[in-house]
Amino acid sequence: MPLLDIRNLATAYGASQVLFGISLSVEAGEVVALLGRNGAGKTTTLSSVMGLVPPRSGSIQFQGKEMFGAEPFEACRLGLGFVAEDCRLFTGLSVAENFEAARMAPRNGAVRLPWDVRRIVGLFPDVRTFLERRAGALSGGQQRMVAIARTLMGNPDLLLLDEPSEGLAPLVVEALLKCLKTLKASGATVLISEQNLRFAMELADRVYIIEKGEIRYHGTPAELAARPEIRQQYLMV
Ligand SMILES: Nc1ncnc2c1ncn2[C@@H]1O[C@H](COP(=O)(O)OP(=O)(O)OP(=O)(O)O)[C@@H](O)[C@H]1O
Ligand SMILES: [Mg+2]
Repeated sequence: MPLLDIRNLATAYGASQVLFGISLSVEAGEVVALLGRNGAGKTTTLSSVMGLVPPRSGSIQFQGKEMFGAEPFEACRLGLGFVAEDCRLFTGLSVAENFEAARMAPRNGAVRLPWDVRRIVGLFPDVRTFLERRAGALSGGQQRMVAIARTLMGNPDLLLLDEPSEGLAPLVVEALLKCLKTLKASGATVLISEQNLRFAMELADRVYIIEKGEIRYHGTPAELAARPEIRQQYLMV
């Protein structure tokens, strides 16, 4: 049974329907990427899973439980962690205080290593140098790392990352990619939305392509690498 199993998910903003029956799954320990152009429906998909935008129909099974209709706080409690593109840090608090505010005990009594500041610094070594700085004073790349780290402090069973590489300088993207590969190697389960094809292909075990609110392709990075016409049709601008 997949950790997350989304079936036929439909979401609308008022009268404007945006998702038309999305189905995708994430197995425990997998990194799955949702690729698509601007406006394809990536953020809406992740927001629907989190309950930030209530979906209209479909099913969202997480750890075997139906969570369609769950509120965001319930999604967190069930073990989902979401990092929005705009990070949403407590900008007036220090980085360490942001971490403290997000700390949550692991759920389900699962035997595993809970996140603490020491483990965060092991994953994102640079964070050590700005632990006491005000989060609002950090660069975009630093804020992105802090936002991911803060969500990890909640010990999520599934991490949802919305376009983590968006807006970052190439060197910062490389640094982030390296950290996320380490996170993956530690066994974390991640659903990541991306427009950066290479970033997603290097990280993901499987990729889905979304266009106009529908899944158009699903395969491994190696399979997608062998399909230039698919990349051309759905991902090139
Ligand atoms: N709050 C909203 N109200 C109305 N329409 C919205 C809202 N948010 C998104 N949309 C529309 O829904 C569609 C999907 O948007 P979404 O943000 O999910 O795409 P995306 O794939 O995340 O794009 P991007 O790469 O730009 O982040 C777009 O047509 C967008 O204009
Ligand atoms: Mg988006």
